[in-house]
Amino acid sequence: MKTTRTSSRKQQHIDISLAKDVSFCVKTAGFERWDFLHNALPELNLSDVDPSTSFLGKKMAFPFIISSMTGGYADAIKINRQLAEVCAIKKIAMGVGSQRQALEDDQFHRSFSVVRDVTSDIPVFGNIGAAEVAKLRDASPILRLIDLIHADGFAIHLNPVQELLQPEGNTNFRGVLAGIELLVKAIPVPLIVKEIGAGISPNVAQRLIDSGVTIIDVAGAGGTSWAGVEILRGKNKDGKRKKQEMRLNSQEFWDWGIPTIDALRGVCIVKSKSSWVKVISSGGISNGIDIAKSLAFGADYAAVARPILKALANGGVKSVLRLFDKWECELIGTMFLTGSRSITALQKQQMIPRV
Ligand SMILES: Cc1cc2nc3c(=O)[nH]c(=O)nc-3n(C[C@H](O)[C@H](O)[C@H](O)COP(=O)(O)O)c2cc1C
Repeated sequence: MKTTRTSSRKQQHIDISLAKDVSFCVKTAGFERWDFLHNALPELNLSDVDPSTSFLGKKMAFPFIISSMTGGYADAIKINRQLAEVCAIKKIAMGVGSQRQALEDDQFHRSFSVVRDVTSDIPVFGNIGAAEVAKLRDASPILRLIDLIHADGFAIHLNPVQELLQPEGNTNFRGVLAGIELLVKAIPVPLIVKEIGAGISPNVAQRLIDSGVTIIDVAGAGGTSWAGVEILRGKNKDGKRKKQEMRLNSQEFWDWGIPTIDALRGVCIVKSKSSWVKVISSGGISNGIDIAKSLAFGADYAAVARPILKALANGGVKSVLRLFDKWECELIGTMFLTGSRSITALQKQQMIPRV
């Protein structure tokens, strides 16, 4: 199969995310700064706890999403099929990675559509980058991408840090909001807007909501550093920056971004004035208590990317299922210890800062 620039880039992202440590260096997502108020009288039987919810019109066993990661090259067929298998077993949702390559030609279309070979029951959403959205004249390319995976939703990723540091990055972000407004009106499924690890601020959330966006994934700092991924991608084998692609490679940007918990708190204040808006917490989620804390701060769902990819590479579907079983138990355990029978009850729990 012929590889295109976009398909080889998508492969490199997976390879670097697995082979190198692309976590934030110093900054954390911030979950360790907060605690639940323990409830010694939960007045619940553990079996009463029900973490089920719904997303994009479909039922979910717990409020959990595998974040957009891959597609658009040959090996992505296996990854997306396995991720869809996990979602089908656990009854959770997933996003496919950027579908930009699928607009270039159809040779890797199966790397996206394979998710529907597994099941039509799970909520699945499509994905494209902000720079592509800025170029849209009409919604027809995005409608084709939605069709390709029978998507229940469609995500746009805002990634200025990545584009700034990417050797071949597109730093023209003029017109992104206009493109978002166009899509909100023209596509038949909900539009999700997400960052990829630098966070959404309250001001950006408000502008998105004013443009008609109803689902925001804060994707904050503290997990995968996309500045880190692109800094490493831009280096030759001997560790030097490729000359012909000299742009910006300052290590100083490695930890750029709003920690997830701070982004989440800010966006949820904006959300409280717009009750129809749903918020996804992601960026550095590393256990079921992080998921529970996200919900207590007002998120409706939590999502994760690189830890899932690593588990899949280490032990296949079984290993990801083991990780999710553990996180599910931790979420349910936290709901029990805070007297939260349902997700709605968990969303009302008080958080206290750790001193
Ligand atoms: C290998 C890899 C590829 C990714 N590709 C995409 C993508 O195509 N589109 C997108 O919106 N986000 C992409 N992301 C970003 C994730 O969806 C997520 O927002 C980010 O990694 C933060 O989550 P984490 O800390 O749990 O990894 C990718 C992440 C990883 C690890």
